[in-house]
Parts: sequence; C-alpha cells; structure tokens
Amino acid sequence: MKSSTPPTVKLTDYQPPAYDIDTVDLRFTLHPTATRVVTTLRVVPARGGDFRLNGRKLKLVRASIDGTNLPADQLIQDAEGLTVPSDLVPSAPFTWETEVEIDPQGNTALEGLYMSNGMYCTQCEAEGFRKITFFPDRPDIMATFTVAITGDAPVKLSNGNPTGGAGDTVTWHDPWPKPSYLFALVAGDLVAYEDSFETGSGRDVTLQIWVRPGDEGKCTYAMDALKRSMRWDEDAYGREYDLDLFMIVAVDDFNMGAMENKGLNIFNSKYVLVSPETATDRDYELVEGIIAHEYFHNWTGNRITCRDWFQLCLKEGLTVFRDQQFSADARSAAVKRIDDVGQLRARQFREDAGPLAHPVRPQEYIEINNFYTATVYEKGAEVIGMLHTLLGSDTYRGALDLYFDRHDGQACTIEDWIKVFEDTTGSDLGQFALWYHQAGTPRVTVTAEFGGDNLRLHMRQDLPDTPGQTDKKPQVIPLRTGFLAPDGSEAAPEELLILTEESQTFVIEALDDEPVLSINRGFSAPVILTQDQSAADRVFLLAHDSDPFNRWEAGRNLALDLLTQMAQCGAAGSDFPGAMARVVGDDTLDPAFRALVLALPSEDAVAQALHDRGVAPDPTAIHGARRALHKALAEEMTADLPALYRAMAVAGPYTPDATAAGKRALRGAALALLTRLEPGADTARAQFAAADNMTEQMSALTTLIANGAAEDAVPA
Ligand code: BES
Ligand code: ZN
Repeated sequence: MKSSTPPTVKLTDYQPPAYDIDTVDLRFTLHPTATRVVTTLRVVPARGGDFRLNGRKLKLVRASIDGTNLPADQLIQDAEGLTVPSDLVPSAPFTWETEVEIDPQGNTALEGLYMSNGMYCTQCEAEGFRKITFFPDRPDIMATFTVAITGDAPVKLSNGNPTGGAGDTVTWHDPWPKPSYLFALVAGDLVAYEDSFETGSGRDVTLQIWVRPGDEGKCTYAMDALKRSMRWDEDAYGREYDLDLFMIVAVDDFNMGAMENKGLNIFNSKYVLVSPETATDRDYELVEGIIAHEYFHNWTGNRITCRDWFQLCLKEGLTVFRDQQFSADARSAAVKRIDDVGQLRARQFREDAGPLAHPVRPQEYIEINNFYTATVYEKGAEVIGMLHTLLGSDTYRGALDLYFDRHDGQACTIEDWIKVFEDTTGSDLGQFALWYHQAGTPRVTVTAEFGGDNLRLHMRQDLPDTPGQTDKKPQVIPLRTGFLAPDGSEAAPEELLILTEESQTFVIEALDDEPVLSINRGFSAPVILTQDQSAADRVFLLAHDSDPFNRWEAGRNLALDLLTQMAQCGAAGSDFPGAMARVVGDDTLDPAFRALVLALPSEDAVAQALHDRGVAPDPTAIHGARRALHKALAEEMTADLPALYRAMAVAGPYTPDATAAGKRALRGAALALLTRLEPGADTARAQFAAADNMTEQMSALTTLIANGAAEDAVPA
C-alpha cells in the first residue's frame, strides 16, 4: 500500500453536519479480542447528501437503514470510514444500525476501547469514538446515549444513570445530549469508594471512585477534593451537578492525566490514589487540581462543548482558568499564581518562541492529538484571566452567567464566547480577540521619566514574527501597576494601565517622590516585560511590594542576574543574601510563599537567562554558581536556620492541607541550607529516619544526596 501524508484540516473548511444524530443506542458484548458493538442511531437529515460515518480498524458485520440490510457492495468503505451514497439515504429521519467487531486487547494506542490490566476502558477524545463504532465523530453532533454492556466483568459502567439490566447485562442512560468524544465505558473487577453530595438545590448525588480491590484506602483525598470542587462550582459560578451519580475510575494505563467523560471521569491512577507514604505534598496538590479540572468540564466542555477541534481552548483554556481559581481559593493564591506563571514561562513562552508557535485558536492542523498544547491550555487560560482583570469579578461573573444561559446544550466557537463578553460590556472586543489569533509572546518595554510631580511612563509593545505570521497588530495588554514611595508604602493607588497602541504614554500625577514601579502585578498580562530596574529597586521591591507576585519576581530577577554573572566569572558580591534573609525571616508571611522566594532559579532557568543574554551556557559553571549562591544564603542565615527549621515542624500525623504543606516546604528549604553548614548532615539524617511521609523523606534524601551524604543514611 502506498503511504500518503494525512490531509491538513482547516478551520475555514468547516461545514455544518449533513446529518444530525438525536439518539445513540450502543450494545456491547465484551470479549478481549472480539468485542461486538451494535449501534442504533436515530438520524435526522440536515443538509442531506452522502451519509458519511468515521470508522477506523472496525470489522463491519452488517449495516441497515430502517431495518433493511444494506448489501456490502453498496457501501463505500475506506481506511477512515464508511460512505452511504445519497440515493440510498432517506430524506426523512431514519434508523441506522451497524454491527462491528473490535479487538480491545490488540489496541495498544490507548484510544478507543482497550484493556488495562484485565479491565476494559475507553478514551474517545478527540477522535477515539470512531475506533469503537461507525459514527460521524465530530463534537458538533450531540445526542443522548443509551448503553447496554454484556460480559462477565463484575462491574460494567457507562455515562449517566444506571437503568438496570438482566443476567450479565447492565444498561445505562445519559439524558444530557453529548458529543461522541465524551462517551465512556469501563468494565472489570473494581470496587467503589462511595460518598454523597447534596447540591445547593437539595438534590442528593452519589459519588463513587472505582479502583482495584485494595486501593479503596487511597481515595479519601480525591473524594474530599471532588466534594470541595462541586461546592466551589456552585459558589463561584452557580453551576450545579446535573445527574444523580458521579463516578471517577482510576486506571493504570492512560495516555493523559485524566478525562472528563460525562458522569464517568477516567483518571490515570497516579492522580487519584494517594497516601502519605507514596505521595508528596505536590502530588496531593495535583490530585486536587486535576479532580477539579475534570469536574469543572461538566459545564465548560460537556454542557457547552466545542463546535470543532479548532475551538479546543473554549473548553480547555476556560477550564484551566477555573481550576486555577479553585486552587487559588483552596490554597495560597500568591503561591498558586507564582507556580502557574513558572509553568507558563517554562512551557508556553518557549513554545511561542520556537518553530511550533501557534495561536490559542489555531487555523489548521494535521493531527489534532498534537494540538493539546501549552498555548491552547495555558495561554488560553491567561487570555480569560485578562478578561477577568479587565471586567472585574462581578462583570466577569455576569458574562459567564450569560454564556451558560445562552449556550447550554450547544457546540460553540470562540466567536460565540467573545460575543458574550461584548454583549455584557457593550464594547467591541475585536482587538482583544487578537490574543486568540496572533501567536507569539508580546514584549513590552517600559521607560519612565519623572519631573515636577509627574511620572511619564512610555510603553511600547512588540509582537514577534512567528511561523506563517508577520506584521501583527497591537494587542490589548492590561498591566496592573503599583507605585511605591521611598518608605515602602503605595505612593498612589494601583492603576490598571491598558496598553492598546504600539506606543503609548501614561501620566501619573501628584507624586511627591519618584516611585519605584511595580509593573504587571499578579502577572496580569502574559508578556515579556523589559524595564530599567536597578538591583537596588529589586531589593526594595523584594522587601516592600504589597503584590506578592512582583515581590517574588524581584527576588527571582536578582537571583538570575547574580547567577548569570557568577556562571560567567565566578564570585559576585551583592545585597541579595541579606534581602532574602529578611523575607525568609518575616513570620507575617505565608511559609509556602517564603519557601518559593527561597528557591533559587533552576539550572535550566539560569541556562535560559544566559542564552537570553547572548552567552553560551556552561552547565558546570551554572551548577557551581548555584551551589555557591546557596552556600552564601546559608551563611547569611546561619544564626536563624535552626530556629526556623524547628518552627516549621508540623505536629501530629500527616495532613495534606495547604498550611501543613507550606510549613513542610519551608522546613525543607531550611534543611537544605542548614545542611550546607553542618558537617555530617545530622539534621537531614534524623529527618529521614523520623519522617512519616514522603514529602519529608524526599526533602531529607534530596539534601543528603546534594551533600554527598546519602549512602549510610538509607538502609540497604
Ligand atoms: N480533555 C482533557 C484530556 C485529553 C487531552 C483527552 C488530550 C484527549 C486528548 C482533560 O480535561 C485534560 O485537560 N487533562 C489534563 C489535566 C488537566 C488538569 C490540565 C491532562 O490529562 O494532562
Ligand atoms: Zn481539560
């Protein structure tokens, strides 16, 4: 057979469906290598013409229309599906039925129906449903599903509510119309960890986490996170759960982190099963965030879905933004924002700066699976964060109410989304929408002039050329900006400066002294900011900025400057250790935040910073510089480290809450510093021996390894 390049799919080629599907009835007879799937569709002609169904690696047993079998030679079958010529298709609604055979055991792509440790499992997003049966597998076709599963597996699950069954058959019905990518089936030897949730309007929802027998004890945290997510979506967005049952299944073989199938979320088991001995604080945090993310998709993704896969950010960008808000509320908002921006810079800014740069809402793709990118997810979330900043929380909430109201049950586009915000605010958001259409990270350059009692801020934005895109238009860049007086107080109220031109000057009046600027507070816009900021300004901001993000940012920039200098020419003196010591010793600050401030930029980040400064990074020099600066910090804080280490101990048995985790983080950072000065590394050895949780074990072990002292601490 001749191989050919797959065709490019273009947004501009979108055509509405020729046939709609109202109801889908699936009957599965499970067998590891020969599963039978009988599919009955209620088809409603729309535009009409040939009836095309997607289907991949399916053995067609029979096909019929309104009960009459279609002879095989009248169907056109190819590697990607089946076409029923228009002259065979009724022009009024009709019933389509097929029977196919598939091989779950032989399916190692983990897409479609496959097996994981003897358990049947599906993954249909984006285009996996076509590996289960013939179907117009596109998200703008939304239907209600009934499912019957026959087989000897003791547990057989699908979307919606169970409706009974007989013998070894179980039936399910999902009353909410959904696209095929949200279909799911799970069957195997599973047990449920169960709980319940009462919705705001007083309905009782049964919650089940299905796991392998023996793993029930590792579900408590995931269940707690689920209940908190359900409550949060009611409080923050007015969104209630809409079925009587919500299930999560943990599977060992899963390509992604997790998947939001309607009423039956499927998770990679590492994001469900946690215990203090086998999971770190970070793992617990990930479980919480991913449980929330998939749950939130019930409204942003499932009830309102995407018209086509170009609109992926409509559900993913929004759901990431929502899970970030949830985690910010559940934990320290500042620490969450700093973490998220760290990720964004490490993954999305790099993507945007390289050959794979693409807009948040792309124009074409070859393989949709390669488009679940940092840009679609993380920049997609940032764009919504900017809308939130521009509108304020109340107007943002009003816009979201309108979105849910107007589009419930629909498959939508980014244009629909923008229109909701235009109608809410009564303004034209055409320029703002460029964030969805232009790739590349904007660079903002700021220069300040102070004279009389006026500050003139000159700002310019530059949008880099990216593959296939040049001559970009200026975007809307909202920059929360603070002005600090010499005593560290706010010399003027914080302003939201909105840059819309390529070049613009903002004037701040009635200032007594030249302020120290705190620009892009909270990282209100995902841009690369260039400004004249002296080391003294940074030390000042690190000490005084009321915005925790920029406070952290000032420290990080100081550290990066210092480390890049040290990596090039060895030692460098500075006020940095002293400034750090003051922040770390400030008991009024959240320990988790102090731990973050104390974390030196990674070797990778230093390499990137050297590269940005036009210097070829030398890994040995970078490693040496980091170690030297770490030692300098330890020496600066010598007197305070033992007390800090003791003060951050958490009494009693392990709890995964944010307060305890923050203390453990700062304690771990203190331990790493302490050990640099302590011959024999006794404190780290003692912590390793005494720890009742993986977080403290890991921080002790990492420290021991970093100091060449691990061998005799760990039992052979
Ligand atoms: N819908 C996705 C899962 C997905 C991604 C399915 C790509 C098919 C192809 C899900 O909601 C998701 O985004 N999961 C993330 C985790 C999330 C917290 C960002 C994942 O699996 O990494
Ligand atoms: Zn998602």
